[in-house]
Amino acid sequence: METLKRTHSCGELTAANAGQSILLKGWVDRRRDHGNLIFVDLRDREGVTQVVFDPERSAESHQLAKTLRSEFVIAVKGAVRVRGQGLTNSNLKTGEIEIGAEELWIFNEAKTTPFPIEDEITTSEDVRLKYRYLDLRRPKMQETFRVRHRICMAIRSYMDKQGFWEVETPILTKSTPEGARDYLVPSRLSHGSFYALPQSPQLFKQILMVAGFEKYFQIVKCFRDEDLRADRQPEFTQIDIEMSFPDIDTLFPMIEGMMAEVFALKGINIPIPLPRMTFEEATERYGSDKPDTRFEVHLQDFTEIFKTAEPGTFREMVDAGDTIRGLVAPKTAYSRKALDDLTNYVKQLGGAGVAWIKPGEDGITAAPVVKNAGTAVMEAVIRKGGARAGDTVLLVAGKKDQVLSLLGSLRLELARRENWIPAGKWNMFWVVEFPLLEFDTTDQRWVSRHHPFTSPADADMEILEAHPERVRAKAYDLVLNGTEIGGGSIRIHRSDLQARIFKLLGLSDQEARDKFGFFLEALEYGTPPHGGIALGLDRIVMILSGQPSIRDVIAFPKTARGVDVMSGSPSNVSEQQLKELGIQVRKGN
Ligand code: AMO
Repeated sequence: METLKRTHSCGELTAANAGQSILLKGWVDRRRDHGNLIFVDLRDREGVTQVVFDPERSAESHQLAKTLRSEFVIAVKGAVRVRGQGLTNSNLKTGEIEIGAEELWIFNEAKTTPFPIEDEITTSEDVRLKYRYLDLRRPKMQETFRVRHRICMAIRSYMDKQGFWEVETPILTKSTPEGARDYLVPSRLSHGSFYALPQSPQLFKQILMVAGFEKYFQIVKCFRDEDLRADRQPEFTQIDIEMSFPDIDTLFPMIEGMMAEVFALKGINIPIPLPRMTFEEATERYGSDKPDTRFEVHLQDFTEIFKTAEPGTFREMVDAGDTIRGLVAPKTAYSRKALDDLTNYVKQLGGAGVAWIKPGEDGITAAPVVKNAGTAVMEAVIRKGGARAGDTVLLVAGKKDQVLSLLGSLRLELARRENWIPAGKWNMFWVVEFPLLEFDTTDQRWVSRHHPFTSPADADMEILEAHPERVRAKAYDLVLNGTEIGGGSIRIHRSDLQARIFKLLGLSDQEARDKFGFFLEALEYGTPPHGGIALGLDRIVMILSGQPSIRDVIAFPKTARGVDVMSGSPSNVSEQQLKELGIQVRKGN
């Protein structure tokens, strides 16, 4: 039976094949028994073809076809014929024809599936994930993985043409400092020692530059034990890139060319060169370092105006150095209830609340804290914000960083509620000039925003120690429709500068040597200037295929609790395994 030769896929036969004898293999998508005639929609990954079993043609196959159920795996031999008038199906690639079955083979039966194998299902995600092999049979999922495959092929071919070598880096490695928690793997041969799964191949790719490879890339799995969200998985795939002797004006066009090719696969035109936005502009105007620029609502600074406000309002906060920022929500004229709702939203994020001003045809209404500031202040805010009757001005007061971030979240929340985001827009751009460091208030020390191997901007080298807060980095992110799809930097390639940075980060020579001695040593053997980037493959596929969750573009993803419900990992292991690894599990904490 296994030697039956498949002549076509289920997605390709048309009227041009009429009269041909063919053999198809696939899954029974649907069977309709019309008594005399049995219709079977036969499905494989390329499509669906209608097969008709007619006792007049083959009594034996017709008899056997009666036993067919959904998801049975079969082979059918027959002849292609054009469907009768009015019976064609324009939704199907093969809708002009059907197969008059002559022979039927059943390779395998199938239990009744827990949900139908079709695109529109309401099944819970947990059930879909438990039976992922069935979920993946759905045409939409297969299309997503076809796209994912095409993207990987296009990237490999593009990078090859650009002279990059794909090099594999280790999965069992030493922990590298990328900010998230590591997944650890115990060593059997050296009890008490652990490998870490790589959060990214960062140090290895830099060492490949020391090794003189000059241009490296890898489509690579990375592992991060962090809280999961719709666009985050504990294991995900990066398109990881590093090059020697780089400058931003060669690196950016190279990545832009790759993105243009990738998006062209779905018929999307990404105009290049891509725009660049500074980190400062992104946070000041959008309250985010990955702004969604598909809708034109911007944050504005109203602090100056409140300097002339009456006391007992925002005045005291401004006098104490706080900032008042806001945005104008056009044509919203929010009710009291809606405004309370927005206040609660901001409170949930840790803010104090939202103040509001509503210009109307018959005067201005406002939250007391603004109203008491005086009419002149309210009018000045409305004027500066360009608000009109029917709009709502929303204001948040407090420390600058927190206010910007709260308004950034509020801006996105309003966009969701008010449907401000138009479909079919692809806003891709670079965010540049990130700060090198941020202050960790818990540990009371400076930490790297990206990673400690990122080079400071040349112009800021002199203020490194005196004004760490003002130092910009040679770091960049690639943003698409409000999602960070990539990030990278020009690296430090001299060990003297690397030592200065470690000192700034409060890392003693000994600690630095313990953590990345191998890397620091490598830097001393003729390291070329180098830099690179990593792009989030899953996020790119997710946005390109219009999927709401990253789990829909990963064949076997984890749930939000980090569980693979199909295989049941993570799971207990035997006492024997633990013993071999020298591990004793502490219960209860
Ligand atoms: P970074 O940490 O910014 O940089 O990661 C690069 C890109 O990887 C994607 N990404 C993720 N995707 C899914 N799930 C996750 N948990 C997740 N975390 C990150 C994002 C992100 O932009 N070594 C550096 C790169 C470099 O400097 O060259 C790095 O890993 O799209």
